[in-house]
Amino acid sequence: MGKEKVIVFDTTLRDGEQSPGASMNVEEKLMVARQLEKLGVDVIEAGFPIASEGDFAGVKLVADEIRGCQVAGLARANRTDIDRAWEALRAGADPRIHTFIATSPIHMKYKLQMEPDAVLEQAVEAVKYAAGLTSNIEFSAEDATRSEIDFLVRIFTAVIEAGARTINIPDTVGYTVPKEYYSMIEEIRRRLPHGGDGVIISVHCHNDLGLATANSIAAIEAGARQVECTINGIGERAGNASLEELVMAMRTRPDSFNCTTGIVTTQIYPASRLVSQVTGIRVQPNKAIVGANAFAHESGIHQDGVLKNKLTYEIMTPESVGLTQNSLVMGKHSGRHAFQEKIGDLGYELKPDQVEKAFVVFKALADKKKEIFDEDIDALIADEIIRIPHYYKLNFVSINSGTVAMPSATLEIENEGEIKHGAEFGDGAVDAVFKTIKKLTGTGSRLLTYEVKSITGGADALGEVTVRIREEGITVMGQGAHTCVVVASARAYMNALNKLEYKKRNRPRVTV
Ligand code: KIV
Ligand code: ZN
Repeated sequence: MGKEKVIVFDTTLRDGEQSPGASMNVEEKLMVARQLEKLGVDVIEAGFPIASEGDFAGVKLVADEIRGCQVAGLARANRTDIDRAWEALRAGADPRIHTFIATSPIHMKYKLQMEPDAVLEQAVEAVKYAAGLTSNIEFSAEDATRSEIDFLVRIFTAVIEAGARTINIPDTVGYTVPKEYYSMIEEIRRRLPHGGDGVIISVHCHNDLGLATANSIAAIEAGARQVECTINGIGERAGNASLEELVMAMRTRPDSFNCTTGIVTTQIYPASRLVSQVTGIRVQPNKAIVGANAFAHESGIHQDGVLKNKLTYEIMTPESVGLTQNSLVMGKHSGRHAFQEKIGDLGYELKPDQVEKAFVVFKALADKKKEIFDEDIDALIADEIIRIPHYYKLNFVSINSGTVAMPSATLEIENEGEIKHGAEFGDGAVDAVFKTIKKLTGTGSRLLTYEVKSITGGADALGEVTVRIREEGITVMGQGAHTCVVVASARAYMNALNKLEYKKRNRPRVTV
């Protein structure tokens, strides 16, 4: 008997973007969406259109451009949200309205301040209204795992009758455990009209107890046929179930699952890197599937075993998730053609002018650095192509530092076309640079964290700086890379300020 398909609903651009510090502008969302399309996800949840102008524009752009998968937009269960979502989605190839309302006693009493019957009525009214726009409707019972099961069955039965094709049972606060979730999904399914025939049961697990993947797997075993997940497991608080873990569990253990996904697993690693570069959220080294150590064998006994037969300690190959073993790339003699091929191999799809821009920077880097690795190319593309300086652009930075002189920095920046120069002293070169940037941009932002990491080995390695800054209640992260750590720091701060400005101009009117 053939395996049943599990629909992969990716919410990196919506729940993932709710990760602390993460934010994506519309171009970044489209870039990630294109990679998700290549990865073969079935549904991309592109955002929450009512939330802000930026969110609306992001969902609209993704829906307008992406043709290979469904694009969903989130809406609370009311006409205003649904109309706004539909306006963003309507030109899409296969648009989906995803509407939700909370169903747990604690959410209904304190957050919604509504009686259960009124919640049910609102949900039905919203789904009926959405059904006048499209037949592709998903309904979520927010905080389902802390809801009463009889009420869930009532509300799901009613929204299915009203036109919902997918019913989602989220573990909003990451509270459930696999056995309990299994029973819940199984019981709801059994009690739905016709045993749930004709509707897809979906799950959406948060990772507060580190159980998001295990809970999603238990739900699949109980009959769920859609999993909502994110690349690298990013998302609200401790994140969402991680796409790569769910997909690779099903692929690596076909004996345990009678289901499969349509994911092109070799696109997992490029997707992971892109999401990390765009959001500024690093992947922890020991992260399953995509962490830097996921395929590294440290112990001598393990290394010996792997050399004799890879299967001794490897349950899947690095190649199967798109991790190329040959990470030594090229040097100053590598030509344009080889460079273009390399970036294609790494999963980037750049326009000709972007390739040209990246190639010029690559050549400059190759003059400074003897060997250029895949990770260097990633950093270079992130700095030159992905991180678009919409508001503030760094033209140059020059520093004076050492054991004798008082550290100082001179910078030229461009603020939406206006050129500004300035110089400041500081406790160190980085401090002087940050002070100058703050003066020139007039920002009152506070630096929360500053991290520097070398991208590859050697004294000529690129340094990658990540900063987290906060202003007016908004926290953002910024990254920058350069062979000089001070320049990397300036780039990171400027990147963070661009994100901050974007967020200020697109303040969410509502949040989920
Ligand atoms: O966690 C949650 O409940 C959600 C819903 C909006 C699906 O993100
Ligand atoms: Zn969620």
